[in-house]
Amino acid sequence: MTQHLAELARPADATATAGARRTGDWWRDAVIYQVYPRSFADANGDGMGDLPGIRSRLPYLRDLGVDAVWLSPFYASPQADAGYDVSDYRRVDPMFGELADATGLIEDAHRLGLRIIVDLVPNHCSDQHEWFQQALREGPGSPLRKRFHFLPGKGENGELPPNDWESIFGGPAWTRVADGEWYLHLFAPEQPDFNWEHPAVQDEFRSILRFWLDLGVDGFRIDVAHGMVKAAGLPDIGGSDQLKLLGNDVMPFFDQDGVHEIYRDWRRVLDEYTGERIFVAEAWTPTVQRTANYVRPDELHQAFNFQYLGTSWDAEALREVVDLTLDSMRPVGAPATWVLSNHDVTRHATRFANPAGLGTQIRTPGDRELGLRRARAATLLMLGLPGSAYLYQGEELGLPDVTDLPDEVRQDPSFHRQSGQDGFRDGCRVPIPWSGTEAPYGFGPVAGGPSWLPQPASWAELSVEAQTGVPGSTLELYRSALAVRREQAALGAGDSVDWMDAQPGVLAFRRTAADGSSVVVTANTTGEPVRMAAPGRLLIGSGEVVVVDDETVLPADTTAWWAV
Ligand code: GLC
Repeated sequence: MTQHLAELARPADATATAGARRTGDWWRDAVIYQVYPRSFADANGDGMGDLPGIRSRLPYLRDLGVDAVWLSPFYASPQADAGYDVSDYRRVDPMFGELADATGLIEDAHRLGLRIIVDLVPNHCSDQHEWFQQALREGPGSPLRKRFHFLPGKGENGELPPNDWESIFGGPAWTRVADGEWYLHLFAPEQPDFNWEHPAVQDEFRSILRFWLDLGVDGFRIDVAHGMVKAAGLPDIGGSDQLKLLGNDVMPFFDQDGVHEIYRDWRRVLDEYTGERIFVAEAWTPTVQRTANYVRPDELHQAFNFQYLGTSWDAEALREVVDLTLDSMRPVGAPATWVLSNHDVTRHATRFANPAGLGTQIRTPGDRELGLRRARAATLLMLGLPGSAYLYQGEELGLPDVTDLPDEVRQDPSFHRQSGQDGFRDGCRVPIPWSGTEAPYGFGPVAGGPSWLPQPASWAELSVEAQTGVPGSTLELYRSALAVRREQAALGAGDSVDWMDAQPGVLAFRRTAADGSSVVVTANTTGEPVRMAAPGRLLIGSGEVVVVDDETVLPADTTAWWAV
């Protein structure tokens, strides 16, 4: 018998069960799709994505086969950091629509069997937030200043910042205001940090949680979840080796034990609501073990596994991080939460196109074909692991990062603050192509219309329309993989894998369901085809997997799933 990937038809009714399969603990094996509202779909043609645009594309997400959608912030914001600078947590920014669009979106999603997770930004707000503006007006000594970190400076005339911390976006983490005091901002000066010891801050966020829970959201992604509590006395770091963007360093403003009290408190709020709602932490911690602290039974549900995201396409390194993750999550009873791309890092199709070790913000396109082949294989490997997985919009189209954006269109604040030394996040934020042959490729309603970042001409071939129904396209690979993942009880939930013997550079593991059915996942991370005994019936491959009798050749950089 000979089987080719192209012959493996997608199950006829692959989407009929979308959102319906999982009831209890749906999040433990959920596939959650990140929508970056600026760049998903622009309904009003102003070049900026919006909530009505997202609403109109929900059926696409249902058909893709994801369980839930996480929306990056769409709240009122001056957009100093693309919406992660919130000036009003209960309002929708006019650029994205209005509150009725948000509630309509939640309702539509629920009707389609999709859950909605919204972004919560509690570490800092916008400098235009009413509290900060009031604190500025009322001056030193005002109780309103206590809601932030306002301090007098050091030096004879207070001309030096209160400590030596640097902003993650470059420059000092302190800005001096006209009356001489300084305020702390771990990110841009337009993003003052809240003082989380202040009861008013705690109360306000409980209330914000309830506001969105009452509107029906299914959960929150917590921005900078590791940053809210600072070490007592705000001690100097010393030395010149300061922060890397989203690094894993031990710092007195990250991963302090006090954050866990906040999450235990929030969990009590969440648990008052019906419907299995969840929290997912964006927590950059020094180790996976530290990440596990965020998902103890009385805290959050999931925490992104950034150690996995940062691992290169290398069998040994991948096996190590998979083991470490599962071993760290098992004792706290939380699922692993895998992720390969998001709005802050170079897309994995471009990371894997470049030599390993360049970090997560890369400026060179590398070998595109190699990158895409590895990216497809990496995704299939990720979706074969036990736990939940996050997809970032456009990865299902195999989009690369746009590495040649002209400087003048870039909006990432870290790009401008570090004179181009870092801050290449715009490259993964370019609006996604839906259809047609002319930019913005269906992102906006009119051919030739605007998009806030320019799309490369080559993206016509990568559009949803261009890939739909094309056997072997990346979009059809994702659709099929998600459909198979739903059908195979052995994929998804669980907390362990059984490693099998394999050649160097090849990963092979078995997953077994409660009903006894098994799936074997094989991933060839080498640049050469590997001949091996076929572990079972081929379910899907990220490339052309050929099976002849009991033998298979797994092409270079290819993953396959097998029913056993
Ligand atoms: C998180 C967000 C990132 C943002 C930063 C400050 O890391 O993902 O986009 O710039 O927090 O809010």
